[in-house]
Amino acid sequence: MSKPFPDSFQGNAIPWLLEGDVNDLPVIGTLPPGLSGTFYRNGPNPQYPPRGHYANWYDGDGMVHAFHFGGDRVRYVNRWVRTERFEREREAGEALLGTLFAPQSVASTARDISRNAANATIVCHAGKVLATWETGLPHEIDPITLETRGLYNFGGAIPHDMMVHPKIDPATGDMHVFGRTTPHPEPGNMTYHVVDRTGVVTHTTEIAVPYDSMTHDMFMTENFVVLTVFPAVYDHARESAGGPYVAWEKERSSFLGALPKGGAGTEVVWIEFEGCWGSHTMNAYEQGGMLLCDVMRYPRAMLFPDPDGSWPTDLEFPALHRWTVDPAARTVAQRRFDDANGEMPVMDVRFRGRPYRHGYSAGWSGAVRGLDAIHHYDWDTGRRRSFVPGDGCLVQEPVFVPSAPDAAEGDGYLLALVYRGGENRSDLVVLDAQAIDQDPIATIKLPHRIVTGLHGAWRPA
Ligand SMILES: [Fe+2]
Repeated sequence: MSKPFPDSFQGNAIPWLLEGDVNDLPVIGTLPPGLSGTFYRNGPNPQYPPRGHYANWYDGDGMVHAFHFGGDRVRYVNRWVRTERFEREREAGEALLGTLFAPQSVASTARDISRNAANATIVCHAGKVLATWETGLPHEIDPITLETRGLYNFGGAIPHDMMVHPKIDPATGDMHVFGRTTPHPEPGNMTYHVVDRTGVVTHTTEIAVPYDSMTHDMFMTENFVVLTVFPAVYDHARESAGGPYVAWEKERSSFLGALPKGGAGTEVVWIEFEGCWGSHTMNAYEQGGMLLCDVMRYPRAMLFPDPDGSWPTDLEFPALHRWTVDPAARTVAQRRFDDANGEMPVMDVRFRGRPYRHGYSAGWSGAVRGLDAIHHYDWDTGRRRSFVPGDGCLVQEPVFVPSAPDAAEGDGYLLALVYRGGENRSDLVVLDAQAIDQDPIATIKLPHRIVTGLHGAWRPA
């Protein structure tokens, strides 16, 4: 018999324990003709109350939600990813693993279980739909039913680890991705892989890194990939001594490692700059020998303890910055877009790595509480527009969908989940990406709430 979840789970963070299907969701307004494909969401949603210290974003079992758009209908499916830990804990009827931050905090019967929770995002590439996680391999899931097909290692070519946020080059269809070379929890260097549009790994090289950090996201331009190293540091020795496995080491610098696409790891150019946390990247492109890298920047990451295990209290929230990186001079110039706070940046991925104008994020409308606004940033005018659904509402990361395959950049729709606290229920709204401060074009009404999660993707039909 499972116990209730503790009071630390409140509101839309309380886990949702039902899996199911809705054949035809009610829609207010009109679905845009041509909106055909699937909107995926992933996020932590533990099936059992946690064991000991718990870091929801890393430790919670991944639950994937799919909204299948076709004709004038939207069909909904949600399923947990059947990871090893999910299946073993279901068998045991309780949580067996502790947190990523303290890998030793597991039940004595569970020391062989991977803590891969498959909860971070969905990557659609080469016909595969993959649920990624922080320090492990992705899980492949069925694109329609969300049934778990198992861990996916690219035919053995990526044996240990694939980062959460790879980048797909729209010109070639190649996926560029980094991973750690050695299996968790041994420290190691990084690997860089290119996976072609058919799913074959065509290039692998090893990169010596300044230190062993959590590399969550990356930049990609037309000709370069950029590996990020921020002071969220893995330290197995510290963990063995009873400390946190990942901690914020504030005295360290940050590094960006620029490498020609398909290049050897020895070609990387490291650019050292101030310690900070670039949680998520919006896009990057080349201009006059510079790499313009757009990123949500925190002065200090919130999600990691100090090396002594204490958690920070004086936090500053993230905001969109443009880092102008000069690989020749090995410098980074930082500029903040405006005074708004935002996270979960996205763009029109048909223009990934190329000059672009429009970016979007989930964000804050004012005082920083839960994410309560969707922002549209116009890099040409420096102007921001926002969609604020109202009191008691929370939003999640949007996704951009073009109005047609050959539409101009930014001509399309933003899809975003809105939690309506007053009704304890969620909607999926469809916004005009050029006028997100107007009323939604369509509102797809769910009978239930979708727990505040992490990332997702749009997969065209
Ligand atoms: Fe992420």
